[in-house]
Amino acid sequence: MATSEPIALNPLRRGLVEDRTGDACAAVIFGASGDLTRRKLMPALYNLAWGRALPGGFAVVGVGRRDKTDESFRAEMREAVSAFSRRKPIDGALWADFERGLSYVRGAANDPATYESLRAQLERVDSERGTRNNHLFYLAVPPSEFGPIVDGLRASGLVSTPGRDRAAGTWSRVVFEKPFGHDLASARALNDSIASAFDESQVFRIDHYLGKETVQNLLVMRFANLLFEPVWGREHVDQVQITVAEEIGVEGRGRFYEQTGVTRDIVENHLMQLLCLTAMEPPISLSADAVRDEKVKVLRSMRPMDRDDVSHNVVRGQYGRGLVRGEPAAAYREEPDVAPGSNVETYVAMRCFVDNWRWSGVPFYVRAGKRLARRVTEIAVVFHEVPQTLFRAARAAGAVADDGGPRGITPNVLAVRIQPDEGISLRFISKEPGQQTFLRDVAMDFRYGTAFGSNTPEAYERLLLDAMRGEATLFTRRDEVEAQWEYMDHVLEAWASSGPPVPPIYAAGSWGPSEADDLLARDGRRWRKP
Ligand code: BG6
Repeated sequence: MATSEPIALNPLRRGLVEDRTGDACAAVIFGASGDLTRRKLMPALYNLAWGRALPGGFAVVGVGRRDKTDESFRAEMREAVSAFSRRKPIDGALWADFERGLSYVRGAANDPATYESLRAQLERVDSERGTRNNHLFYLAVPPSEFGPIVDGLRASGLVSTPGRDRAAGTWSRVVFEKPFGHDLASARALNDSIASAFDESQVFRIDHYLGKETVQNLLVMRFANLLFEPVWGREHVDQVQITVAEEIGVEGRGRFYEQTGVTRDIVENHLMQLLCLTAMEPPISLSADAVRDEKVKVLRSMRPMDRDDVSHNVVRGQYGRGLVRGEPAAAYREEPDVAPGSNVETYVAMRCFVDNWRWSGVPFYVRAGKRLARRVTEIAVVFHEVPQTLFRAARAAGAVADDGGPRGITPNVLAVRIQPDEGISLRFISKEPGQQTFLRDVAMDFRYGTAFGSNTPEAYERLLLDAMRGEATLFTRRDEVEAQWEYMDHVLEAWASSGPPVPPIYAAGSWGPSEADDLLARDGRRWRKP
């Protein structure tokens, strides 16, 4: 095959060949007709099959409201995998083998008959496919259906307790897609309802950012190298900037977005997780609880905001019309299923503080938005300035280089690029070649694509495999998700109590509202242009 040669030539790339497999199991996907199943879950499972990471005994049972036969479900999934798999074209022989394990059960979440049909189907699958009574329930459905599905599974006896499971040598686990709740109260209620059916060790709350290679690499970069840890804190760091910028708009998900806004869609989960991994102390091991304990400590150290703090430290925006990559883009309020007078935010920027010994006084400027100038997720650690005395003369001599670039001493920046162009870049000051001592900011770059090849696993591959193996490190624990909401609730409550908000409109394709620039300007700082 064309791709095997470079893999063989570059020993670093060997790491990409899967050497772990999941336990034999049947994955039951609720929401089998949905977008997530088509775009992410099924392509991820197919790629796991390609990498021989799926267990010998494996099957997928799709559950959905629409009427489908096993055959039509398989055909639909083949189409989805052909369109969305990272490996193209689809391998006919592999697919033929994979699709034999796919079947479909029709039913609604709140109908007890659904669970009777599901139980019968799982009995069949367990005996025919060698899935050993192990069941992974994946809830790829809106949060309003979490409760009814958990109740249905419990009432039908499809969930057993870990004790009974262990005795029988089997397991059942449940995976929840985000958003996990709407605020702290609803997340707690959801957690209580889940706890009535499942033990926490059986619960896997997905935040797909944690499955991204570059996000996992944050812990490796910080704790497997000597270089970074000694300078990682208030003594050396001036500020941290975290950006989750998307070019896309709401893409047909207007109804969903009207409920969530960017705060609940990205900030409360993906962005908070990036902040935790950046700020956390070294865990004592990579076990699920050790890592999650440290993240929870960060969340609990975050400085709560009262209403005044929110108005000073949080900026919202909503995209208006504009140009994205030269193409006209509609305003948020013109998107399908969005109210014409909607005040839902599609952009948020915040100034946060982690009030612990390591980070006291260091601002974390975080922002997330849709329809911004560029798709980029980045964590930038900006270090303090050095005293300028030594190079004062050089600075006076020429602030602008011959090519128009700026000269002088700027702070060192370590930028971790989560996506795209995954990598790490260290910016530091260097002397321009020549007779004079002119200083220039230069970059030392590590790029995943160059070092390891670019066909890295998708987040969902890693997460599905981990769930099949019962490894919970990359999933969010109950207290963690509640701590995330507790922090964000201050913001949501302040907004709710200040009456209907009117977020400033920013042009699609820009870097957000000018109020976000003012937020940093007040501190004498500026957003990076990643
Ligand atoms: C999802 C959000 O969780 O993450 C989407 O619901 C967003 O609105 C997506 O577009 C971004 O994920 P990624 O992996 O493309 O950065």
